[in-house]
Amino acid sequence: MANYILRNAEPRDVPDILRLIKELAKYEEMEEKVLLTEKELLEDGFGDHPFYHCIVAEVPEGDQNGNNNAVVGFAMYYFTYDPWIGKLLYLEDFYVMETCRGFGIGSQILRHLSHMAVQTRCSAMHFIVAENNQASIEFYKRRGASDISLEEGWRLFKINKQHLLKMSAEE
Ligand code: ACO
Repeated sequence: MANYILRNAEPRDVPDILRLIKELAKYEEMEEKVLLTEKELLEDGFGDHPFYHCIVAEVPEGDQNGNNNAVVGFAMYYFTYDPWIGKLLYLEDFYVMETCRGFGIGSQILRHLSHMAVQTRCSAMHFIVAENNQASIEFYKRRGASDISLEEGWRLFKINKQHLLKMSAEE
């Protein structure tokens, strides 16, 4: 697995990105929650105002001509803002296909994101991990991550669309 490359995702990668999003959701036993389509991913990530960015990991794939590449991993991220400490890089999704794990691709992706965070003067990288994904929690902890739900008591909330519509319709 020495000859993988990392690159910024392009519009042509959207089918692979959605495939990997679904694989990660399946790994997290929540596959049925993925409602997004290729059309939305394309519009939202590659329009005038991208809502997300992606890094993809690509390996050479042995087709007849020996010149096709396969996307085997990705990280989806965007920038957010914390009124106490400023810019943050938010890591939304991070996944390497099972057969390609353990070769350093994930570490290299995190290094790349760290470099980008430093270059853009972000104060931290934030992400959420499912409580039962112990392997991934340990992977992040070995790289310096701290669990701010436990240590600082933050809880994650959402207001779903039904309630947004209700509030937005109020006088
Ligand atoms: N599978 C997984 N890990 C292995 C394996 C293997 N077959 N073999 C060895 N490892 C060890 C490595 O030695 C390494 O240990 P280290 O932390 O001491 O360095 C570590 O596990 C893997 O390191 P890398 O090879 O650099 O990372 P990899 O390419 O395996 O990617 C990742 C890491 C993305 C977490 C991957 O394991 C994965 O996709 N897991 C399933 C999905 C997942 O949990 N994603 C994160 C969800 S949280 C979020 O998205 C914000």
